[in-house]
Amino acid sequence: MIDPEKGFTSDVITDPNRFVGRIDLIRSCMQALHSPNSLIAIYGKRGVGKSSLLRQVQQMALGDYTLATNAGLHHEIPDKPRTYLTVFYTCDAIIESGEALVSRLCNDQNDEDGLLRLVPQDGKEIVEFTRTKEVSGGADLKVINWGAKGIESSKYARVVEGDTVQTFRNFVSSVVQHQVKGKMKRDGLLILLDEFDVLQNKNGLGSLIKSLSSKDIKFGVCGIGQDLTDLIEDHASVERLLEQGAIHVKTMPDQEAVNVLNKAEELFEGDLGIDDDVKNDIVKASQGYPYFIQMIGKSCVSKASQLGLTVIDRHVYNRVLEDIKSGVAFPTLESSYQRAIGNSEARQMLLHLLAEQPEEMTLFHEDVGRILLKNVRKDAAEFEVDYLDQNLPRLLDRKFGPVLRRIPEGQGIYEFINPVFRLYVNLRAI
Ligand SMILES: Nc1ncnc2c1ncn2[C@@H]1O[C@H](COP(=O)(O)OP(=O)(O)OP(=O)(O)O)[C@@H](O)[C@H]1O
Ligand SMILES: [Mg+2]
Repeated sequence: MIDPEKGFTSDVITDPNRFVGRIDLIRSCMQALHSPNSLIAIYGKRGVGKSSLLRQVQQMALGDYTLATNAGLHHEIPDKPRTYLTVFYTCDAIIESGEALVSRLCNDQNDEDGLLRLVPQDGKEIVEFTRTKEVSGGADLKVINWGAKGIESSKYARVVEGDTVQTFRNFVSSVVQHQVKGKMKRDGLLILLDEFDVLQNKNGLGSLIKSLSSKDIKFGVCGIGQDLTDLIEDHASVERLLEQGAIHVKTMPDQEAVNVLNKAEELFEGDLGIDDDVKNDIVKASQGYPYFIQMIGKSCVSKASQLGLTVIDRHVYNRVLEDIKSGVAFPTLESSYQRAIGNSEARQMLLHLLAEQPEEMTLFHEDVGRILLKNVRKDAAEFEVDYLDQNLPRLLDRKFGPVLRRIPEGQGIYEFINPVFRLYVNLRAI
């Protein structure tokens, strides 16, 4: 039995040796890290690889440039790259304001990524560690013992009752003084905020971040969006900080997508091969979404193991396709599918019709993925007269997904909220 996780993963990629492609983005991240003032903002569609890139930013910030070297950017690495200690926090939809976010940061007890771990305190034991197996891996700090006082945040730095932002400033300045400059001799503290798009009220977040940034403290935010406004509403206030740091993650070009499969073969260390024509088919089905490649890859490995094979050939791939067609391969996507169609054949038909539409580029965004309803109407006319207008609303309804969202830039333009779900529908049998 070969472990699929050895070569494929649906998790965020932290290890630079598993990270494929994205050379231009790595270059931009490197530049933004090196510029003392720049804020970093990573945005793009769901499942396209944003968080993985953010984790690579963290690695480089710690001084580990394995990724840039592997990507052939060795000559572009600054002689003395700015180095950081890092905080990594994943936001959630319960956080209702900038102040709530700052409060979360002050209370996060994650022992490898939290801010609190870095705040000096009697009795707390902190050790250096690296997130990768590399010897060169950049060291960060983690807590191995929170000390007798426990992990009650008020016992740490000067907490100012009723003033979260000031408390945060106090925490951060004590971290910068003692850990960043003192113990680790770094240039600054880098605070990375993933899933920044889910924050309920984005009002004033840009200016808050701007006011907290300094030559010692840099922020990096990351989330779903087609442009910066989706991430930072008041982006005008941070525009100057973003000259180098606005990073749009797009779908992977085919060559990079093939390399995800080549990388997997390399990680399997000869235990498993993938036929070239199967690689091409997987790349075509995935349309540049590494998440789908990883998921199909994992299924193929399991299937090959079941069949006692060490090569993913046409036969193995076809068996996986059958599983996808019948809805047993990816339970999570399948349950979204079932929820969307309910028991309605008409809605199922419509869903497939929408998913099959060629993706349109629209005027204002370079991202593809738009569906024009008038084109769907033409196809729909061949089936049943009225069912489109009856069934579309459910696909837009929160209760049943939602599967689609209306794009405000023009009439009758829609988009699949989860592009990977669209890919799935295209492989799923009616
Ligand atoms: N550069 C890469 N090389 C190989 N695989 C990648 C790369 N980037 C992302 N992936 C894979 O794609 C999937 C999605 O990655 P990730 O979670 O980073 O995307 P995301 O854009 O943050 O997704 P979400 O919008 O759901 O937060 C994961 O399975 C990850 O392993
Ligand atoms: Mg993510």
